[in-house]
This record gives sequence, structure tokens and C-alpha cells, in this order.
Amino acid sequence: MNAFKPYPLRDDFTLKNRLVMAPMTTYSSQDDFHVSEEELHYYKLRSKTMGMVIIAATSINDQAQAFDKQITLKSDDYIPSMARLAKAIKEEGAKAIVQLHHGGRMNNPTLYENKEDIVSASAVPAPREGMVTPRALTEEEIHQTIEDFAQATRRSIEAGYDGVELHGANTYLLQQFFSPHSNRRTDAFGGSLTKRMHFIDMLIDRVNEVIKHDATEPFILGYRFSPEEIEDPGITLNDTLALVDMLKDKPLDYLHISLGKYDQSSMRDQTDQEPIAQKIQTVLKRKIPFIGVGKIETRESIDHALSLGYDLVASGMPILVDPNWGETIQLNQPIKTVMPDTLPKPLYDRLAKYRERFQQSGYEFPVEND
Ligand SMILES: Cc1cc2nc3c(=O)[nH]c(=O)nc-3n(C[C@H](O)[C@H](O)[C@H](O)COP(=O)(O)O)c2cc1C
Repeated sequence: MNAFKPYPLRDDFTLKNRLVMAPMTTYSSQDDFHVSEEELHYYKLRSKTMGMVIIAATSINDQAQAFDKQITLKSDDYIPSMARLAKAIKEEGAKAIVQLHHGGRMNNPTLYENKEDIVSASAVPAPREGMVTPRALTEEEIHQTIEDFAQATRRSIEAGYDGVELHGANTYLLQQFFSPHSNRRTDAFGGSLTKRMHFIDMLIDRVNEVIKHDATEPFILGYRFSPEEIEDPGITLNDTLALVDMLKDKPLDYLHISLGKYDQSSMRDQTDQEPIAQKIQTVLKRKIPFIGVGKIETRESIDHALSLGYDLVASGMPILVDPNWGETIQLNQPIKTVMPDTLPKPLYDRLAKYRERFQQSGYEFPVEND
């Protein structure tokens, strides 16, 4: 497999290569949540060498916002500025995908005057400092939330994107419905493993319905998930294999895992050394293209990732450092220094707080903008 050759994600949808820009929140929208000029510049620079760019988590309604200055598609008002972003990415030859997001109990409480607007599957707070006890969504509100995802999908189509990714990873709302930690419901949406998948199952069907109805060009649907939680109770790998087994028969065009390291094995069971990617493929059986992520930084790691069962490789931190990551890696050159001018200022400031993480990966992080 050559990562730098075109890859048909679907018969009618070919990427120019297998490289994906991982979704990354920029904390840099305008104050009214419209896409900023800085964000346009940041994405445009990074789209040239990538097959597909998945943009930052994009909130789908008023209760979905998890971060300061997070872009949104919560109403039609946001279609024009999101359309400018789609155009900027597509002009550079990459496919443009929106990551649709609801933060649920992980929403930053300081963004909400009324704490009743912080909602989740059940009234169980996230085991993190500063998080509040969320309000459990009623069944009616669950249906409305699914509809809000559906309307955000319609807006993504109208804004000219090539697809949407449902953000079911990193502890946010969709994962909260799947997790036995955050979902203690006893109705149709909780109580058993199958019922914990019900929200996700319904959501995919409804979003697919909108795509079938509204899209006039090929429009893809992806799903991102985190395979394990460390909490007890929490999502186990066996839970995730059951989820993947369900997802493989859904109208999805790709699955996207979220991992710190693409070849990692179970966090919960240290005796199990088999890479999670391989385990997933035993169930997925290559029915849907599979995106890997997590410290894929060299040509060797790309080849290794593809050999483990991934079809596409996503880059987060490396492409923050090097906007031309795709080309740099193809030429097998080292990535070196973070370039402040290529990052929106609020994102740069946030990343600067985690400077050591970049340095641990061998990147220099200049201090002049501090
Ligand atoms: C600044 C930053 C923001 C991120 N925001 C998101 C996000 O909005 N949605 C998401 O699914 N993952 C998000 N992630 C996780 C990345 O998509 C990716 O999985 C992670 O950085 C690991 O890949 P890497 O080792 O190539 O950086 C974010 C990561 C970073 C560093």
C-alpha cells in the first residue's frame, strides 16, 4: 500500500492520498462563533498536501458547545462562513469534512449561565476537575438532539462540504451514551450494551436519511470513537468490538479511531499486547475504511500503521507543527519547528502551555509570541 497514491474511499469518492488532517479544535472562531480569517488561513495552508481535512469539532446546537470560540453549525446563519472554509480547503485539492459535535457533560461550565443546559445521558458528572453534574436528557430531547445533528448535516451539505464525521470519541455526548459510566438510563437508551448503542444507531440512520435526501454530490459519513475508558465502570475493548460490529453494517463510509498512539494495545488490560487496530479489524473485516491516528510522524510509522489494518492515516500534532506535513513526510524529511505565523493566535497560546509535549516529540517550540 502506498500512502501517497490516490485512494478510493468509495467508488464515487477518491482522495488524492491516504493522509488525513485529524480534527483539531482551534479555540479561534470570531466572538460570534463564525469562522475567523485566522482559521481560514490555518486550514488553507494545511490542505495542500492532504487527501482529506477533517475540521475542528463543530457544535450542533446551543447545548453542544464545549470550548471557548468553537465553530458551529447550530443555525443557518453560520452556513456562509462555514462555506468559505469548505471552499478554502477544497481549492487546495483536499476533501473537506465537518466534525459534528456535542460536548454533553464535558462542556466547559463557565460557558453556560444556566447549568441546566449542561446535559448528558444521565446525571453523572465527568470524573474531571471542575465538571458539573449534568441534567439527563429526556427522551423527547434525545430525539431533538438527533434532529439537531441532522440539521447540522443539511447545513454542511449546503455549505459545500464533502462529508460529516460524527464525533463519538474523546468522552463527548455520543460516547457518554455508549459509556456505562455516564449512561445509567433504564429506558430504550440505556441499561444493556445494545441499548447504550441505540442513540448512535438512530443518529447514523437519521443523518444518512438527510444525506440521501439533500446531497446532490457524493457526500460521505464517518464515525469517530474512542475504544476504551479507564473509569470503572467504563467502556471496555469488548464493548467497542460490539459497537464496531454494529457500525460495520451501518451506512458509514469510514470509521476513525481516536488513540494517543496508533499501535497501542489495551489500557485496561496490560497483559493484552495485541494492537487495538488489529483487534478492530478482526470484527470490521475491512467492510468500511478505517482511519488510524496517534503519533504517526514518520514514513516508517505510516507503513507500520497501514500494515496493522488502517486504510488511512491521520495527523494531529505533526501537521500543527508543519503545514506541509504531507509533502515533508513523503520526502522523508524531519519536521522541526512550530511556526507561530501559521497558527491562529488563541491556538498557538494554548499549545504553548503544552510546549513540553512538542519537545518530547523532538519539535522545537519558539517562545517569541508568548
Ligand atoms: C489542539 C488539539 C485539538 C484537538 N481537537 C480535537 C477535536 O476537535 N476533535 C477530535 O476528535 N479530536 C481532537 N483532537 C485529537 C486529535 O484529532 C488527534 O486524535 C490527537 O492529536 C492524536 O494525534 P497526533 O498524535 O497526530 O497529534 C485534538 C488534538 C489537539 C492536539
